[in-house]
Amino acid sequence: MSNLFECHALGFSYGADAGKTQVLDNIDFSMKPGESVAILGQSGCGKSTLLNLIAGLDTPTSGEVLINNTKLYSLNENARTKLRANTFGFVYQFHHLLRDFSALDNVALPLLIRGDDKKGALQNAKDLLQKIGLEHRQQHKPGELSGGERQRVAIARAMITEPACLIADEPTGNLDAHSASETLSLLLKLNYESQSSLLIVTHDQAIANKMDRILTLDNKTLNTV
Ligand SMILES: Nc1ncnc2c1ncn2[C@@H]1O[C@H](COP(=O)(O)OP(=O)(O)OP(=O)(O)O)[C@@H](O)[C@H]1O
Ligand SMILES: [Mg+2]
Repeated sequence: MSNLFECHALGFSYGADAGKTQVLDNIDFSMKPGESVAILGQSGCGKSTLLNLIAGLDTPTSGEVLINNTKLYSLNENARTKLRANTFGFVYQFHHLLRDFSALDNVALPLLIRGDDKKGALQNAKDLLQKIGLEHRQQHKPGELSGGERQRVAIARAMITEPACLIADEPTGNLDAHSASETLSLLLKLNYESQSSLLIVTHDQAIANKMDRILTLDNKTLNTV
């Protein structure tokens, strides 16, 4: 099976010359469609930086990322944004939902942005909220939801476009144990049902253990556990 994405000798540093700080060095990493991978590593080791490079949100100082055999960093900004939107969904530690919009509108937004008609977009968002047990919260704004509910809405927003890969950067880092467990179950369920890949950064070994593969980011490079 061909890879969903591949990183070849990926490197990243901040600054220049004497002030240069190498964060990532010579990283080779790929994921298959449908696979789930956890990345563990100490705070500040470069996990978020790596996710950003894989998704084309930052520019590597060396190496290349291929998505479905397309060189991500050879594309112009427009084409890269399009490829990113068609390939990845994102969930972060903080939900980043739009606070003046209902849960339903937040989930429908990615579909409206890509040009779907409003009626269809709202129906799809409604169906997904129902599937994840939040149909009774669809008119609630983020401020009227619990932390766990907000994060589940954020996951729905990330998955509504049916991305090939969900990238989650400490998605349970801000939740209590119960909400964290519900959030993880939801991620795994959607990952399984939609046959999408899941790349998750976490500090939680128990979460990592549920993934197909665990890698650690240490000393600027990825290592198999
Ligand atoms: N704009 C910047 N300029 C200089 N250094 C930066 C910049 N942004 C991040 N860094 C440094 O790069 C390193 C990697 O940061 P990154 O956010 O990827 O770490 P992380 O592993 O995600 O950490 P955490 O677990 O705390 O989220 C850190 O040492 C950070 O201080
Ligand atoms: Mg981080």
